[in-house]
Amino acid sequence: MDDLINSINEKYNALGHDPNVFLKGLLLSKPLNYWDYIQVDTLLTLQKPKTDFADEYIFIVYHQITELLLALVNHEMKQVIEATTIDQEMIAEKVGRINRYMEVMDSSFAVMFRGMNWDDYNTFRIALAPASGFQAVSFRMIELMCTDLINLVKPNLRATHSTFDAEKMLKDVYWQDAGMDRKTGKKSLMLRQFEEKYLSQIIAQAEAMKRKNLQCIVQNISSMTDDLKNALRKMDYIFNVKWPLSHLRTAEHYLISKGQKTASTGMSDWQKYLHPNYQRRMFFPFLWSENELKDWGNFEIV
Ligand code: HEM
Repeated sequence: MDDLINSINEKYNALGHDPNVFLKGLLLSKPLNYWDYIQVDTLLTLQKPKTDFADEYIFIVYHQITELLLALVNHEMKQVIEATTIDQEMIAEKVGRINRYMEVMDSSFAVMFRGMNWDDYNTFRIALAPASGFQAVSFRMIELMCTDLINLVKPNLRATHSTFDAEKMLKDVYWQDAGMDRKTGKKSLMLRQFEEKYLSQIIAQAEAMKRKNLQCIVQNISSMTDDLKNALRKMDYIFNVKWPLSHLRTAEHYLISKGQKTASTGMSDWQKYLHPNYQRRMFFPFLWSENELKDWGNFEIV
């Protein structure tokens, strides 16, 4: 106990704060409880359905769960990127954590696939247009932390970007293809809304990550450990193939009726756009063989 009091004295004296005031404050304050610490009451006020369909609550909560998992991914990625030395073990540990969050995101997608009444979903979603998960900026921010922007540019246009210009390159980024209104051929309201809110942030992130992204960090490692290599390959696969396929199968389950594809809330040519084979988005191309790259989206890794 004396040691503890001495340490408290040392700490607060060094801060120029009277240790007795700190100790009195401790005596006066209420003991912590779960509900205040976790902010349960606030958390449970954040679901605001637009309709009276009971399953819309599931739809909102599950999207919020995804955002929290992506916040965890972001939290780990920031630490990798901000590290001052390249420590393969640390990177493999962080990427391993990210892979666990992503596995949760992938396996829990059954909450969407199986978890809502088909007719109810197809009715309440009409009230949600033009909002779409496409507008989840967290995915875009993470992608830019993971890889060079050029790897996110549509493959057929990469050669036209010989110098780095984030604003120009983002005009040719793969996700622009989701924002073409199938009927008018113009930028959809979904994409216009998204760019109005986030494009300047996305440009800033692309510029900040130019030489700091994970691909840049790991590409310079001369002899990569198998642990790190496998963790990175798995990350690329879950982000860019496995989760996208689970998501696409869910979209097909709800949006294909009697063999006919129906319009999504965001109005994209979604069945073509969402397939990893079409997007050919990958974070660490140098870790895949020529055959694997050719076959992207059509093979599984465990
Ligand atoms: C019943 C459930 C879902 C369906 C039917 C569905 C459908 C779609 C469709 C059709 C698109 C293409 C854009 C558009 O036209 O709107 C899309 C994009 C997207 N959705 Fe979902 N979605 C569902 C759940 C989710 C969930 C839970 C998330 C998690 C945040 C999510 C995240 C995304 C993302 C990130 C994109 C853009 C994908 C990309 O650019 O590769 N979706 N979704």
